[in-house]
Amino acid sequence: MTGFPFARVVAIGEAMVEMAPIGGDQYRRGFAGDTFNTAWHLSQTLADRATTAFASRIGTDPLSSDFAASLAADGLDTSALARDPQRTMGLYLIELDGVERSFHYWRGQSAARHLADDPEWLAQTFADTGLIHLSGITVAILSATARQNLLDALATARRHGTKVSFDPNIRPALWSSVTEVRETIPAFLEVTDIALPSFDDEQANWQDPDPQAVLDRMSALGVREVVVKNGAGPVVLRSDDGDDSIDPPPVEGIRDTTGAGDAFNAGYLAARFLGHAPGAAVRHGQAMSAEVIRHLGARLPAGSVPRLPAVD
Ligand SMILES: Nc1ncnc2c1ncn2[C@@H]1O[C@H](COP(=O)(O)OP(=O)(O)O)[C@@H](O)[C@H]1O
Ligand SMILES: [Mg+2]
Repeated sequence: MTGFPFARVVAIGEAMVEMAPIGGDQYRRGFAGDTFNTAWHLSQTLADRATTAFASRIGTDPLSSDFAASLAADGLDTSALARDPQRTMGLYLIELDGVERSFHYWRGQSAARHLADDPEWLAQTFADTGLIHLSGITVAILSATARQNLLDALATARRHGTKVSFDPNIRPALWSSVTEVRETIPAFLEVTDIALPSFDDEQANWQDPDPQAVLDRMSALGVREVVVKNGAGPVVLRSDDGDDSIDPPPVEGIRDTTGAGDAFNAGYLAARFLGHAPGAAVRHGQAMSAEVIRHLGARLPAGSVPRLPAVD
């Protein structure tokens, strides 16, 4: 846990009910969401070496209760799941046209949109935490006031030594304009210790010519550790160890790239949490996402996530 003051990790964001096609007009119900996928793989990797909490707001309905129960069954800390009697979880449905997948969302009224309404809840959730992970999706779904609450809570946590990791995960459909993204994301990068962007998202929003430009832009905002994912291309990173570029291992039998970035984040963060250097952590992130893209869905089967030894 080099550099992380407490053996507790919190990922904060939205999880949704997922309806995945299983043939004809039949669907299998699951749960997914970027920060949730990352929390789940982090929890499986860290296991009993740290507490991993998923922080969000869900309903009091049976579906929300099933979600909380499934988290607890998989070993996550559910104490940061706030319950909202007026609202429910968002839902999305996957439509298959051959191998092409399209996603249909019903998330406009979700409880998660209110996850940062209460500054006291945020302070409690972030207390005694080694690492907080969030994404641009976490931020996109919030009101302006809630965004400010979240920024303030992250700044306070950092003053207590908590590290913050942030994946901008820019989804244009969740933002009113490119201007809104450009005005909001940098403020979150200013309270970030570890940035985990994907090159295609950044290029689309900021016209970055290459991954190096993403490193430069984010380190200019004061982020000490920047790791740029780029699909099958090399991961480029900047950290206290300097700059590096690391090719992913060749991956045979890719079935579904959904969740590749979320799994990478979990592998990277787990390795850093266990004391591995940034370069080694990139390799672990790449290994984690290589496994995920060889499986259908955004998460590996429970129990099959590779364990990683800690560094003393
Ligand atoms: N086609 C691919 N071949 C090999 N590795 C891949 C491929 N696509 C994704 N990955 C792995 O998953 C990681 C994250 O994928 P990426 O597509 O960059 O993220 P995101 O899902 O956020 O867009 C990459 O750094 C790489 O290790
Ligand atoms: Mg991504």
